[in-house]
Formats: sequence, C-alpha cells, structure tokens
Amino acid sequence: MLSIEKIYTRIGASPIHRDLSIKAGDGEIVAILGSNGAGKTSLLRAVMGLLPLESGSIVFDGRDISKLVPHERNRLGLAYVPEGRRIFGPMTVRENLEMGSYGANPPAATMRQRLQAMYERFPVLKEKAAALGSTLSGGQQQMLAIARALMSNPQRLLLDEPSLGLAPQMVRAVHDTVKRLREEHRVGVLLVEQNAGLALAVADRVYLIARGSIVEQGTPQELGRSSALRALYLGEVNAPLQEAEC
Ligand SMILES: Nc1ncnc2c1ncn2[C@@H]1O[C@H](COP(=O)(O)OP(=O)(O)OP(=O)(O)O)[C@@H](O)[C@H]1O
Ligand SMILES: [Mg+2]
Repeated sequence: MLSIEKIYTRIGASPIHRDLSIKAGDGEIVAILGSNGAGKTSLLRAVMGLLPLESGSIVFDGRDISKLVPHERNRLGLAYVPEGRRIFGPMTVRENLEMGSYGANPPAATMRQRLQAMYERFPVLKEKAAALGSTLSGGQQQMLAIARALMSNPQRLLLDEPSLGLAPQMVRAVHDTVKRLREEHRVGVLLVEQNAGLALAVADRVYLIARGSIVEQGTPQELGRSSALRALYLGEVNAPLQEAEC
C-alpha cells in the first residue's frame, strides 16, 4: 500500500500541493488527472523523493519513507518513469535496460534473468537490443522507459504521461502494457495522464487534482460522469475521452 498523507510542498516561493492525500493499494492502478500545472509531475517527484515535503508524509508498505533519498525508495520497490521518457539516446537498448537495475547492483545472473524477462515481455526490445536508444520510435522509447524502470523489480511504478505524443496504436500498446503489469505481475501503477480516455479505461480508481489539491475521486465510472472532469477536458481532449472503449 502506498499512502500519500496530507502533503504540502512548494517550489521556490510557490505552494504546489496543499493537504493532498492519495491511497493506492497493492497491485492497484490509480490514475491522477488534472490540467497543465495542476501538480501531477511534482506529485510523482514528491513520492520518489525528488521534491521534499514541507509537511505530511509518504508511507509505503507501512513504513514512513518521507525522509529517504530516491535510490533508497527505489530499493524498497518504487520506480519512476519520468515525463518525456528520458531514455539514454547514445546508449544501446540493452545498456539502457541495465541502467535500470544499476542502483540495486544485482548479481550478474539476476541481471541476465531480468533482461530475459523484459525481452519476453517486450519482444521489440529484444529485436532492437543492440540499437541505440535514439533510433527507436516514440512508442518504442516509451516501452524502453517502462522496461528500464521494471529492471529494478518494483512493486509500484510511477508513470508520468506515458501516452504523450504517441500514435493511437502505440497509445493502445501503453494501455495493454499497464493492464498486463497489474494482471500478470501484480505491479501497481500510479499513472499520471493527460489522456483522460486512457486513464479511465485502465484505472481502478481515479483522482482529479487542481492547484495541488484533490477535487474529485472515484471509480472510472463515477469520474466519467463528473462535471468537473468534463469541464476540464471538454474541447481540450474530447476525442481521447471517446476512445475509452479501446
Ligand atoms: N522547476 C520549477 N520551478 C518553478 N516552478 C515549477 C517548477 N516545476 C514545476 N513548477 C510549477 O509547479 C506547478 C506544478 O507543476 P507540475 O509540473 O507538477 O504540473 P503538471 O500537473 O505535471 O503539469 P503538466 O500537465 O503540464 O505536465 C506548476 O505551477 C509549475 O509551473
Ligand atoms: Mg507534468
């Protein structure tokens, strides 16, 4: 269980999160929706230890991790896939994957097993193992970024806007990947998305945030009827909302 409890954060003089609380159960997919600048990326950064808390706490598996540095949180089972993928372009796909478990420094045999597991889960990465990261398409780079994070064998993935800028069939591939993570591997996901249709289609529960606070929360069915969500996305990402059946 990941529990974000009444957190306050700021960047410089600006308050970012105010009294924000979110709970995500083991293996649960929890989506965070909100407009540009609502505080979604900063929330994942706070969970990962990249943005300090002014007050409140982050509890993971019953342990207060608020004071731990990012690699310690990674070792306990959290892994972060940042906005914009940030794969290493001049490194090969295989080297990118190896970097994902670098912090934990596993024995060579474990590293080989994990690589093998990633190649089975994402066959395109096996095909492209020796290719430079920069030569992959946007969708392939997103798969690589997710696989790299999975190399640390996490319990929970913090995934920031994985569908951003992808072609529709790759958005569907991201959708399937997130579902499979939960169903086949019991990896929980805290998913930040601007594609409301995708978020509502994959999530078990959804939070809508605005100016660093929770505005609404509920199941995708409940949020699908929310006037606040409609107001936020109407005209802006109307088409993806209709894609929820995909
Ligand atoms: N490095 C920074 N310096 C100053 N302000 C920042 C910085 N990073 C974020 N902010 C501010 O913090 C607030 C929350 O930003 P954040 O990136 O978390 O939003 P977001 O919900 O992820 O937005 P987007 O949908 O555009 O990715 C915004 O008002 C933003 O301008
Ligand atoms: Mg963001």
